[in-house]
Amino acid sequence: KIYTTLVILAALALAKGAIAQDMSALPPILGAKVYKGVRLPQVNSPHDWRDLRAPLLKSIFQAEVYGRLPAPTPLNLISKITVDEAAFGGLGRLEEAVLASDALKVRLHVAYILPQTPGPHPVVIVTAFCGNGSTFSDDRLSLPAGGLPEFCARFKDAPPPAADDPDPYLFAPPIETLLKRGYAVASFATADLVIDDKDTAIIPLHLMNPSAPPDERLGAIAAWGWGYSKVIDFLETDPRFDPKRQAIYGHSRNGKAAMTAAAFDDRIDLIFAHQSGRGGASLSRSPVGEQVSNITGGFPHWFAPNYARYGDDPNRLPVDQHELIGLIAPRPVLLGAGVDDQWADPEGAWQAAVAATPVYQLMGHKGPTQTTRETPDMSADIAYFLRPGRHGTTRSDWGRFMDFMDSHFKTPRKP
Ligand code: GCU
Repeated sequence: KIYTTLVILAALALAKGAIAQDMSALPPILGAKVYKGVRLPQVNSPHDWRDLRAPLLKSIFQAEVYGRLPAPTPLNLISKITVDEAAFGGLGRLEEAVLASDALKVRLHVAYILPQTPGPHPVVIVTAFCGNGSTFSDDRLSLPAGGLPEFCARFKDAPPPAADDPDPYLFAPPIETLLKRGYAVASFATADLVIDDKDTAIIPLHLMNPSAPPDERLGAIAAWGWGYSKVIDFLETDPRFDPKRQAIYGHSRNGKAAMTAAAFDDRIDLIFAHQSGRGGASLSRSPVGEQVSNITGGFPHWFAPNYARYGDDPNRLPVDQHELIGLIAPRPVLLGAGVDDQWADPEGAWQAAVAATPVYQLMGHKGPTQTTRETPDMSADIAYFLRPGRHGTTRSDWGRFMDFMDSHFKTPRKP
């Protein structure tokens, strides 16, 4: 009997080993490496990381994974209106701005709500799958230029969560609670930038950066991520928002976009990327859930065409997502995952977070300090949680995000 137990235990250990990441196979986060004949030397100091390694990594991520970003010029402010001086029972002031660029063929609607208390307010920027009206439950807000995706009708007519559900899935952020906790919220519709459709997206993506080489054509994930930066350009012109406390949130494909935004734009002070999965926080090399071949096959417009080339062997990728998290260091990152959401590869995101830790340490910060996957340490600079349930954002996921912001925004990090 003892022998049988030992055999079963050994088999379990082997099976576990087979799906665990082989961390030694990851591109070294601080060690020397070579990319297309160029030697990236060992990183020994914060200066080495910020000034030498990070710019090269940003360039490699654009070339091989996300595509070349548009120029960093702000969009022009076309108009700005107050939609409701006393929205949410008088808790907030709702406004809408239109930003545009003729050259890039972009017209972006930003809707935002501010608490009535004196500012400047910390702000959370969110992406709306179904237009800004869905973020603020307000039909007066403009629709995205190309209209709403079909699935949005389903959410509009959906009944509110059952009163006895202890932790309902929320389609929109809990605006009332955010306002009561002192947060302003800004929202933009990704469909204003690029409609999420593989057959039509390529032309607008090309127009947003016509000089990108064809294999490095801008992908929709990075285009949506660039949207967060355009919202920040605008918010930073308004003294009611605190430029030292700007957080971003994204779920799933929008979580991938948020990861690129935070990696490429230092002005973002904190990020909650929830269930961002492949192309987001989870390692591209991970064997669990959606593979590089699945995502580039199903959503070819999301990435630079180069990323698909690694579909048959992601181990050949010159970068992996722990380095994307490293580009966010030392800013606080919260990663959420669901047990029943294996497609988004919860373990691959945890492993990426752990492997990004040396960059945080190099800058005098800590990586994840939690002892279990389930319980995040809200004061740590990298926090992760694996909760029961499926793909989607629940009320308690938002609760965790707010706790994480409260914890880190007590003392602004920028000088
Ligand atoms: C699909 C896709 C995922 C993505 C998800 C979502 O499932 O395969 O990569 O994260 O859609 O955005 O909801």
